Amino acid sequence: MAITAIKGFNDILPAESGRWQHIEQAARRVFELNGFSEIRVPIMEKTDLFCRSIGDATDIVEKEMYSFVDKGENSVTLRPEGTAGVMRAFIEHKLYAQDPVAKLYYLGPMFRYERPQKGRYRQFHQIGAEITGVHDPLADAQVLNMLVQFFREIGLDEPQLQVNSLGCPECRPAYRAALIEFLEKRVDALCEDCRRRLSTNPLRALDCKVPGCIEATAGAPSVLDSLCTGCDEHFSGVKRYLELTGTSYSINPRMVRGLDYYTRTTFEMVTTLLGSQSAVAAGGRYDGLISQLGGPAIPGIGFAMGVERVALLLGEKAFTRPPDLFMATLGSGERAFAFNLMHKLLQKGIRVEMDYEGKSLKSQMRRADKLGARYCAVIGESEVASGRAVFKRMADGGQVEAAMEVSEVLEILS
Ligand code: HAM
Repeated sequence: MAITAIKGFNDILPAESGRWQHIEQAARRVFELNGFSEIRVPIMEKTDLFCRSIGDATDIVEKEMYSFVDKGENSVTLRPEGTAGVMRAFIEHKLYAQDPVAKLYYLGPMFRYERPQKGRYRQFHQIGAEITGVHDPLADAQVLNMLVQFFREIGLDEPQLQVNSLGCPECRPAYRAALIEFLEKRVDALCEDCRRRLSTNPLRALDCKVPGCIEATAGAPSVLDSLCTGCDEHFSGVKRYLELTGTSYSINPRMVRGLDYYTRTTFEMVTTLLGSQSAVAAGGRYDGLISQLGGPAIPGIGFAMGVERVALLLGEKAFTRPPDLFMATLGSGERAFAFNLMHKLLQKGIRVEMDYEGKSLKSQMRRADKLGARYCAVIGESEVASGRAVFKRMADGGQVEAAMEVSEVLEILS
């Protein structure tokens, strides 16, 4: 029996890879414009890094990590997200010593042992960006504006930006206590998971999709009502800067993130077009993470988008470049002639295709059509003898007769 890929691990086939490149190139363009530089970190880290940053009581650490013991008896984990590894590198290489304000972006595969479905996979890809060293809400607003700019750049009006603030170690404990008190009164209505997480991660109940939990948490206290003055002012600043720059957003006080490192601003770009996988990109502020990982007390904020989800939103549109010219040939001598011309045109950046194996003219023309070639030229004995051919514009059948010289072909195709 043939060996297949692992469940939840996908091949990105040529028909899709153009869309992926379109997404990646737009992200690089927009992020670099905003002053971000790429950082490449390993896809595997010590397991402890993720336990300490993402949090022991999160779904990711509790049940979704690809962890194993390597031959040296070390517990290692395929990264379930990018922020922890990037911050580990930021601390390890003392990037903060030159300038605590670092703007970094990364892209690559992440791994979570989740139940695969449309938009949710076990190997998936993120493009993420992080800014360190800025407490001011200006950094939050720039990160959000950059994300919105990225979606505009790739031609999507969806998804919509939702923001929230989760407070800080000063004010969150009081909110947590109030929420636990509220949930304890309704514990019988909660699902088993939410009951189990009641004392370790009560906020998850706000995000639970089980109908009983949705009903039970309907009147739950809002995190925004218990923010301390500092967090409240910070959140007002984020909203003010978004309004100043005309960025539309809505506030979602029930937004819960699946990672423990967040403080203050959190956000998601959500869509209704992907069923239950509504978050296309998500992130937030993590002012305590760098010190928690053994670095200096430097704040941070960032996001990651799921490339598969962005690609799904882009739909079937092809982003591959069709050939500029297809040369159909009638015999082996003509094939050699066409091959030489193709070689010269390729040096000039012209995308040319031809038949390699002496197929019939009919089948060559079918291929030219299938590839979506802009122009087609049939090269037979007389064309080789005269050095001239007819170049047919496939869109409307318009024809130009010209010499098969690089300069003339370039002119036709321009
Ligand atoms: P996250 O919300 O866990 O945040 O993931 C970010 C995005 O990755 C999600 O919104 C979704 O688009 C995509 N994603 C997550 N899991 C899957 C999956 N199993 N299959 C397909 N796509 C998925 C983080 O990872 C944080 N590190 C984001 C961040 C950066 N926060 C601050 N900086």
